[in-house]
Amino acid sequence: MKYDVADLSLAVEGKKRILWADNDMPVLASIRKRFAKSKPLRGKNVSACLHITAETANIARTLKAGGANVALCASNPLSTQDDVAASLVKDFKIPVFAICGENRSTYYKHINATIDHKPVITFDDGADLVNELHTRRKKEAHRIIASMEETTTGVIRLRVLANKGKLKFPVIAVNDAASKHLFDNRYGTGQSTVDGIIRATDLLMAGKKVIVAGYGWCGRGLAMRARGMGAIVVVTEVDSIKAIEAAMDGFEVMPMAQAAKVGDLFVTLTGNKNVIRSEHFRVMKDRAVVANSGHFNVEIDIPALKKLSKKMRRGVRNYVDEYVLRNNRRIHILAEGRLINLAAAEGHPASVMDMSFATQALEAEYVIKKRGKLAVAVHDVPIEIERQVCILKLKSMSIAIDKLTAEQVEYLASSGEGT
Ligand SMILES: NC(=O)c1ccc[n+]([C@@H]2O[C@H](COP(=O)([O-])OP(=O)(O)OC[C@H]3O[C@@H](n4cnc5c(N)ncnc54)[C@H](O)[C@@H]3O)[C@@H](O)[C@H]2O)c1
Repeated sequence: MKYDVADLSLAVEGKKRILWADNDMPVLASIRKRFAKSKPLRGKNVSACLHITAETANIARTLKAGGANVALCASNPLSTQDDVAASLVKDFKIPVFAICGENRSTYYKHINATIDHKPVITFDDGADLVNELHTRRKKEAHRIIASMEETTTGVIRLRVLANKGKLKFPVIAVNDAASKHLFDNRYGTGQSTVDGIIRATDLLMAGKKVIVAGYGWCGRGLAMRARGMGAIVVVTEVDSIKAIEAAMDGFEVMPMAQAAKVGDLFVTLTGNKNVIRSEHFRVMKDRAVVANSGHFNVEIDIPALKKLSKKMRRGVRNYVDEYVLRNNRRIHILAEGRLINLAAAEGHPASVMDMSFATQALEAEYVIKKRGKLAVAVHDVPIEIERQVCILKLKSMSIAIDKLTAEQVEYLASSGEGT
């Protein structure tokens, strides 16, 4: 078995973390049990470009239990948990090509190793694997039955491809399923972003002015959690509807140019580029902390910050680089602008990834059933799959809900009754 991980001797610790996470992933575990019997993915080669975390290990185990031959690579150079990667290879016999801190060329070499695996189904978190299959490795695209996309930024990239008429196979916007983004992006990113920032800096949130750029699913999760810890939260937005939502949720809303002057901690979660740039760095307070939790490391214009700085001290603390501006103010950039929750913490808690990855696993089963019948387009997850995941999750949480009565079903389907 070919693989490329940092150190196989880390497997003992990795296995403990994988099994610990599994305790909090009951929905995925129940699907794994069913897959082990019915083998819906029997003999299928599957390649997944995902953050190599304990939770990802558990979806890989689930796909393997379903009969798939799975190969994994990282969807970010800094998010690989090396102990988990080691255990996947050693204990679960799943080939992994991922090393935390890998450079750009190794990152792409690893993605290509999973294409050499000849997948018929792919999973992506940010569309880097699909992008290879549309550019350098496009001759391999004909084999793909469908590809699953885990995050907002990936779905945006895929829609651009589809709109240009360049998409080569069906893709499923798993991110857009309610059973994914309502919980994963909001509660998962919300909590783990705070976790990453605190692990990196030991910052006290209470009383700090925290600037949240982007009030989408991730941004509102972070804003909610930061407020809960006593921070004074300011939101910046470009969308008038989201801006009103933020204001009515009780947050201050202002342009970044204004927020830059008052913030203690800045976090970008927009999926956009250069959201914090020269004109903002110039007016920031001394020791402002700047982090990103959006998918790519383009949200903070670090090259511009380099130009403005007379000195840079790398690693003044793990995950913290200090830039000293010509006015002597210091700016602290976390994790080189890469997603802080995965770089400095462990990513989303397993309990929420349970829903995302259960949706992914059921979707893999679905695309096999629909083989050849799915149009080459960006598809939504069928509502039945979203509901199935939510019903199983509620059950695992021992929460029961009401059922519509026959009378209510009839009432909702009629238009006759009024005042
Ligand atoms: N860190 C993680 O683990 C994690 C998890 C899920 C998603 N993500 C990523 O986080 C990013 C946001 O995801 P989401 O689901 O919240 O997306 P979303 O589309 O729901 O929200 C993004 C928001 O940013 C706003 N925005 C865009 N440009 C802006 C700008 N210049 N200034 C201020 N606001 C701006 C948009 O109007 C939108 O409201 C994406 O890149 C996504 O892939 C990261």
